Amino acid sequence: MESGIFYQKPETTKAFRDFYERLGKKNAAPLWEALADLLHFEPRPRAVPVLWRYEEIRPFLMESGKLITAKEAERRVLILANPGLKDTAQVTDTLYAGLQLILPGEVAPTHRHTTAALRCIIVGDGAYTAVDGERTTMHPGDFILTPSWTYHDHGNKTDMPTVWMDGLDVPLVNYLNAGFAQHYPEEIQSVSRNEGDALRRYGSNMMPIEYKNPRLSAPVFSYPYSRTREVLDELHRNGPLDAWHGIKMQYINPASGGYPLPSIGAFVQLLPSGFRSKPYRSTDATVYSVIEGRGRSQIGDVPFEWTKRDIFVVPSWYPVSHQADEEAVLFSFSDRPVHKALGIWREECLATD
Ligand SMILES: [Fe+2]
Repeated sequence: MESGIFYQKPETTKAFRDFYERLGKKNAAPLWEALADLLHFEPRPRAVPVLWRYEEIRPFLMESGKLITAKEAERRVLILANPGLKDTAQVTDTLYAGLQLILPGEVAPTHRHTTAALRCIIVGDGAYTAVDGERTTMHPGDFILTPSWTYHDHGNKTDMPTVWMDGLDVPLVNYLNAGFAQHYPEEIQSVSRNEGDALRRYGSNMMPIEYKNPRLSAPVFSYPYSRTREVLDELHRNGPLDAWHGIKMQYINPASGGYPLPSIGAFVQLLPSGFRSKPYRSTDATVYSVIEGRGRSQIGDVPFEWTKRDIFVVPSWYPVSHQADEEAVLFSFSDRPVHKALGIWREECLATD
């Protein structure tokens, strides 16, 4: 791979400047002045590697719970703002992430939007998310979808705060100017199906006969961690370990075998205690949430130490290697389906640090 810059623009003389000024008045511009910013030998993300320690954010999250109710806020969320993307609600160049808090007795009112969302539950056991008339109880590590244009609300009838990481394709959808949002007529949507119906109907290695999924997203919206953990444990026992990923699985849309959301892929991996992965990179910038364990990751030149509930970002094309100081489980999500749909996804398994 070539390094350096792809194109060196010519020196700007007075003749050039005069030309640009006259050209600008006609709403046109010379490509050769812009080319260096448009074409690169390899990706140049604005997002930078960053880690949020849950224990450092938690007090702010709890303080926000005293300032504003979930209902007043519509969604009481602290945005995880990547410092490379100042003043944007972006965790990577295309995705959004936040930490959402629902206190005991609270409801986050029903709405829908064309942006697709996922959640990875961090703290709390027993609050619910409802999607299109079905509720699912949330437990730590559960992966939950609220696909594009599905009505969803959240409620917490337990006596503990519930916190989860939200991941959305907001920057991408807004870039495409395809963002719509709508409130439901009532605060809480009515329940029309028993809890667990979607998972049994579509997530049990069976489908209703001749089923045709009306959406691009998965017809299941809950991927319980208890199931996931059992699989990871069993596969760890069975082996082999992948040198770059440990035991890594991707969540699927059971109706298509593809990604659970058309714009966002989600993954989960087990890193055994003492395991050190070889460095890996891919074009899809990835957000990680530490479900269990403790360890460290080298992201480009920057080392990060993480523990349970921390969140970190690997920007596009940054080499990353993980090391587990104790057995760890990492949830992650990225815009990989978009890269794949456009035929531009690349990955590289690197041989050494
Ligand atoms: Fe929402």
